[in-house]
Amino acid sequence: MISASAPGKLILCGEHAVVYGHPAIAVPLAQVRATVTLIPGAPASGLVFVAPDLAIEWSAAAAPDHPLCQLARAVQAELATGPLDLRITFSSTIPVASGLGSGAAVATALVRALATYAGHDLPAERVSALVYSSEQLFHGTPSGIDNTVTAYERPVWFQRADPAPLIEPISIGAPLLLLIGDTGVRCETRLPVGAVRRNWQADPATYERHFGAVAAVVHEIRTALATGDLPALGRLLNANQALLAQIGVSSPELERLIAVALAAGARGAKLSGGGWGGVMFALVDEMTRPAVAQALHHAGAARVLTTPVLPQDVVD
Ligand code: PMV
Repeated sequence: MISASAPGKLILCGEHAVVYGHPAIAVPLAQVRATVTLIPGAPASGLVFVAPDLAIEWSAAAAPDHPLCQLARAVQAELATGPLDLRITFSSTIPVASGLGSGAAVATALVRALATYAGHDLPAERVSALVYSSEQLFHGTPSGIDNTVTAYERPVWFQRADPAPLIEPISIGAPLLLLIGDTGVRCETRLPVGAVRRNWQADPATYERHFGAVAAVVHEIRTALATGDLPALGRLLNANQALLAQIGVSSPELERLIAVALAAGARGAKLSGGGWGGVMFALVDEMTRPAVAQALHHAGAARVLTTPVLPQDVVD
């Protein structure tokens, strides 16, 4: 039996503007993960996919267009494995459609498991590229930040560019403690992304100004992260949230969780990911964490996750 896993992710800043070539920063969420296990299947069974949590099972032969079947075929082609008979089981503790990267994590775990099975140690860059192709089938025009942070499994600075994105590991100068509050409202990323694109097409000058302002905040956040300046980081997260609200991707549920977190002592709070639902996060410390967590629960958060982000030097 072979097993591989991949983490969820949280976009710290820069979402939406990142689609238009501006930078964003994301961190892996090691405590919520997707896992894929492979066991040999019956001879000539091909690939059989099993998701016990969803009580579904499907075969690559019967559903060749399923994005995970297409991804598995791409990995097999890249690694020249030839036909495989495998039973592929998925499990995940990452809430789905919440902006925590569950799709990218499942895909990354699948690529890692198949590569291990075939005896290959694929570099993060290749894993990320394979998953990106699969994400395009789900989402149309993803920026690529989800697959990048999930495959590299460390805080990253990400910027779309031709021919390849700019991906840089970033320094974290002081430990961060984040509380993630889930609105419980499921929203597919492509919906707010599509609305922003229509608004940008209708009024490019205003939207370019918003995106430029987001980019300036993201640059300042990189500095605040590196120096461990938590008060500045809190203010900058709030500034990013104000811009996301102007861009039109916040929601009453997100605003409510953000407001109660700030009122309960968080240094900063903002939505994360596509918006219109999904999650927000708050920057807390050990002192403020209990009150902020309680406030989020009382305000109706469907779940509250705590995630530390540990200091990192950039050595690579
Ligand atoms: O909803 P998520 O976590 O997949 O994040 C979407 C982030 C966007 O910037 C809105 C879209 C993208 O492709 O980067």
